[in-house]
Amino acid sequence: MNRSSTAALIADLQTIIPAGFIRTDADSRTVYGQDWTRLFTPNPAAVVFPTTVLQIQRLVEYANTRHVALVPSGGRTGLSGGAVACHGEVVVSFERMNRILAFDPIDRSVTCESGLITANLQQFAREQGLYYPIDFAARGSSEIGGNIATNAGGIKVIRYGMTRDWVTGLKVVTGKGELLDLNKGLIKNASGYDLRHLFIGSEGTLGFIVEATLKLTRPPKEANVILLGVPALASVMAIFTAFRNALEINAFEFFSQQALPHVMARGLTRPFETETPYYVLIEFEHASATDQETALGVYEYCADQGWLTDGVISQNETQARELWRLREDITESISSYLPYKNDVSVRISRLPGFLTDTDALLRREYPDFQVIWFGHIGDGNLHLSVLKPPGLDQSTFLEKCQAVNQRLFSALRQHGGSISAEHGVGLVKKPYLKYTRDPDEVACMRAIKQVFDPNNIMNPGKIFD
Ligand code: MLT
Ligand code: ZN
Repeated sequence: MNRSSTAALIADLQTIIPAGFIRTDADSRTVYGQDWTRLFTPNPAAVVFPTTVLQIQRLVEYANTRHVALVPSGGRTGLSGGAVACHGEVVVSFERMNRILAFDPIDRSVTCESGLITANLQQFAREQGLYYPIDFAARGSSEIGGNIATNAGGIKVIRYGMTRDWVTGLKVVTGKGELLDLNKGLIKNASGYDLRHLFIGSEGTLGFIVEATLKLTRPPKEANVILLGVPALASVMAIFTAFRNALEINAFEFFSQQALPHVMARGLTRPFETETPYYVLIEFEHASATDQETALGVYEYCADQGWLTDGVISQNETQARELWRLREDITESISSYLPYKNDVSVRISRLPGFLTDTDALLRREYPDFQVIWFGHIGDGNLHLSVLKPPGLDQSTFLEKCQAVNQRLFSALRQHGGSISAEHGVGLVKKPYLKYTRDPDEVACMRAIKQVFDPNNIMNPGKIFD
């Protein structure tokens, strides 16, 4: 966009948003024009900070008239480039729309604006004696609107499901400018198409999520965290079955040895003396008084089978948190390597075969690269972070990872999996959508986009072109 058209754009925006809440300085455009992906050069024309639904509706109306692209922006913790703005778009930040609007103890529901930070919602729920269970390392910066737009998952999906399972109502401004009040907080509603679910996971391509009503639940009872040393990948799912059959599991996570030096560099201590190629972290709730004994029994059984060689169980909350940090700090601890991230999933019954194939494939394809395995393995969700070797230029590295993707995703397709379990498609996974969705399904998605956003002003170029 040239200088005079930018000036005209700003002048127009000022008729909608107060001048103090429109930013065009280089720093703001860089910060708000990208997410955690760091693969794209941010270049939005401006960043705006609305405070009302009416302002958003007026922005949409204006964007349709002038063919201006709008990029919804939450906490920008995404990992697929879903919230990046590289082509002179206007970034619409929800930072100032972060209020809790209503709470109903009988419905056990809370209604909030979409810029509410996840951790603040969790805290609010605790203050009411309740619990919002969607949780992940980015809880302190991610926003509810972004969580909904990507159908965020995280560390407790095995017990509580995805964000989708907690949304009972949504107010959205579509790309056409209509304000839709979807599902109105109802638990049961069989009155036709549930448009709410189209907006969940739509990555900002259909419209703006401006308000959400979310279910809360009773807080979990006290929990223990166990960290296990596992000698072979093949044993991970055997351990899963043994623990899941005996206990109420809140989380079943894993990571490879390669992750450990990175998180330990952040001041964390080694969990036990011996090194093992893999580690499994299990959180289980004390549903009954004998659960700790049961857990020890399962541990011994798994040790007898040779599935694990070491383990530690938290004795208090501080220890539990320290063990969790070994898993949760991985992303931040490797961020300086600009890792290439895969976020794949298969049904848990298909995991053993998929893990074996993937292991062989990655050893063959990346003999000289460090690949860190981790993720929500109890949900069938594997994160593979490939670290860029120092000295290798970014574009050669990316080309290599993209070439390997073709093979990895072909294997994934054979196992009936998804190229994105929870990070979304955005820009990064767009070329690979065909490995997960067949052409008829993508055609339906395009047709749906056309209904809600006929002029393609909403986050254009994300998910598909
Ligand atoms: C995680 O599980 O830690 C997140 O999805 C982030 C990541 O994959 O890097
Ligand atoms: Zn994850």
